[in-house]
Amino acid sequence: MSQNYPLIVVHDVDYKYLNGTVALRKINLKIYKGELVGIMGKNGAGKTTLIRTFNGLIRPTNGNVYINGENIKSKTTGTLSQKVGIIFQNPQHQVFSNTVEEEIKYSLKSLNLSKQETQTKTDEILKKFDLDKYRERSPLNLSGGETKKLAVASIFCRDPDILVFDEPTLGQDAKEIRFFIELIKNEMNNGKTIIIITHNIEFAMEYIPRTILMADGKIIADGPTKKLITNEFLVKKSALILPQISQFTTALNEIGIPCPNNTYSKEKMTEFLADYIKNKSNVVGGGNT
Ligand SMILES: Nc1ncnc2c1ncn2[C@@H]1O[C@H](COP(=O)(O)OP(=O)(O)O)[C@@H](O)[C@H]1O
Ligand SMILES: [Mg+2]
Repeated sequence: MSQNYPLIVVHDVDYKYLNGTVALRKINLKIYKGELVGIMGKNGAGKTTLIRTFNGLIRPTNGNVYINGENIKSKTTGTLSQKVGIIFQNPQHQVFSNTVEEEIKYSLKSLNLSKQETQTKTDEILKKFDLDKYRERSPLNLSGGETKKLAVASIFCRDPDILVFDEPTLGQDAKEIRFFIELIKNEMNNGKTIIIITHNIEFAMEYIPRTILMADGKIIADGPTKKLITNEFLVKKSALILPQISQFTTALNEIGIPCPNNTYSKEKMTEFLADYIKNKSNVVGGGNT
């Protein structure tokens, strides 16, 4: 999966907003080419601030960020946006052209393509995102899910090596989440490096192998998602709300039923309970109503 090549290196990064809020404190991390990494933690932990340092939208107060081995200190956000694409939490703030088609063309501007190339790329991306039927429409007249799609399309058309999503599943319905998951899988196969900020624990456990957990501007844990999420101390510290199935596991343990704490899927839980009941009835002698 991940090759041994750090694509993003964050070294001793601090960030303080103008109003004095310290949002990042001595952040150190490495993200390797081809990795899929989650960032979790409660509101205000510093997740959005951190990912904004990856494309220069936020410049660290102290410390450095390296992309592909280069310190990005002296690089413009325009240059960086061709390497790092960020899809923000509220995509409607990211969309501002008169038509869907113009939105994509605007986004392609920084690539300095010919008119013909721009048109070809635009057509391609509108098709890929199933937006060609809306090409003449104002982005203001799209549904929430479609606006999000357009925001993603306008980043994807620049084909950045690194894709960052700030809470992509928020407010999405099941069909939109499935579309998103397929998209991610596709981009992973194309060798992209993907970072996803999410509060969606079921989603993280199922799809994201590595998670960085943040609290109070610091990284409090960084490792396999399933390991972090089954660690009670970390869960408490970052105020994560566990899926109901994990809460059920804890409740079973509390009444003395030894359900292992990695029973986080419906299938695993069913399997465990079936085995448990079968063994139990064998011990009791079964048929003893
Ligand atoms: N533009 C801003 N000006 C001042 N403080 C901010 C600004 N944006 C975020 N903050 C503060 O910085 C801290 C980290 O915020 P943020 O990175 O948005 O956290 P998260 O994405 O984890 O919810 C919070 O205390 C937040 O209130
Ligand atoms: Mg945020």
